[in-house]
Amino acid sequence: MSRKKIIAGNWKMNMTPSEAVKLIETLKPLVKNEEVDVVFCVPAIDIIPAVEAAKGTNICIGAENMYFEEKGAYTGEISPGMLVDAGVKYVIIGHSERREYFAETDETVNKKVLKALEHNLTPIICCGESLTQREQGITIDWIRQQIKIAFLNVTADQAKTTVIAYEPIWAIGTGKVATTEQAQEVCGAIRACIGEIYDQATAAAIRIQYGGSVSASSAPELFAQPDIDGGLVGGASLKPDFGAIVNYNK
Ligand code: 13P
Repeated sequence: MSRKKIIAGNWKMNMTPSEAVKLIETLKPLVKNEEVDVVFCVPAIDIIPAVEAAKGTNICIGAENMYFEEKGAYTGEISPGMLVDAGVKYVIIGHSERREYFAETDETVNKKVLKALEHNLTPIICCGESLTQREQGITIDWIRQQIKIAFLNVTADQAKTTVIAYEPIWAIGTGKVATTEQAQEVCGAIRACIGEIYDQATAAAIRIQYGGSVSASSAPELFAQPDIDGGLVGGASLKPDFGAIVNYNK
């Protein structure tokens, strides 16, 4: 079973709408690669101009977050229906920054995953351990717990369409990329966990990204690992380097 690689940029809280359009114009010719699904996850206010700027290219636009209700009195939130109507295909769920600064929990992540799937949005479900957890040797236990709760009540057919991003918190924005062995070990454990929850076919179908200080130089070795199906890229997704990351195999 061969899985198509998926390489996504997470712009975080960077780029105004006009800057977003300029960046997409710059990156458009650099991120062409038929063998890879290319996603730009952008701030909510950039979504509409970004979808317009990416028309006719291989770039899909994703959101960085969404709420788990359909509509109503939730000031400041964005619904899945709004994202779909704006042309969004993917949505990052449960990024460690959302968990740390905005009190998201495994339970809210699960609600968001279910809601995204209901609307045919592909969730990019984030998990990852802190440095303390790694040093205490509880990385795999922690990740398995995050995965098991995130996938509660998700069917096997739905799970097959999702993307999981393994992002060790200590590697995010630090320039300290996980070693290839560390990244492969955890991505392999995630796939095994999906196999336990569902079955081998589901485990073989699901795509698992690595994220955390991915660069043009670290991408080729990381993405060549058997259980790493691409990356979720922060800082380097805002630069022409993202073109080299997407073309890691050229
Ligand atoms: P960096 O690539 O900047 O380390 O960010 C990773 C990340 O958090 C992507 O979601």
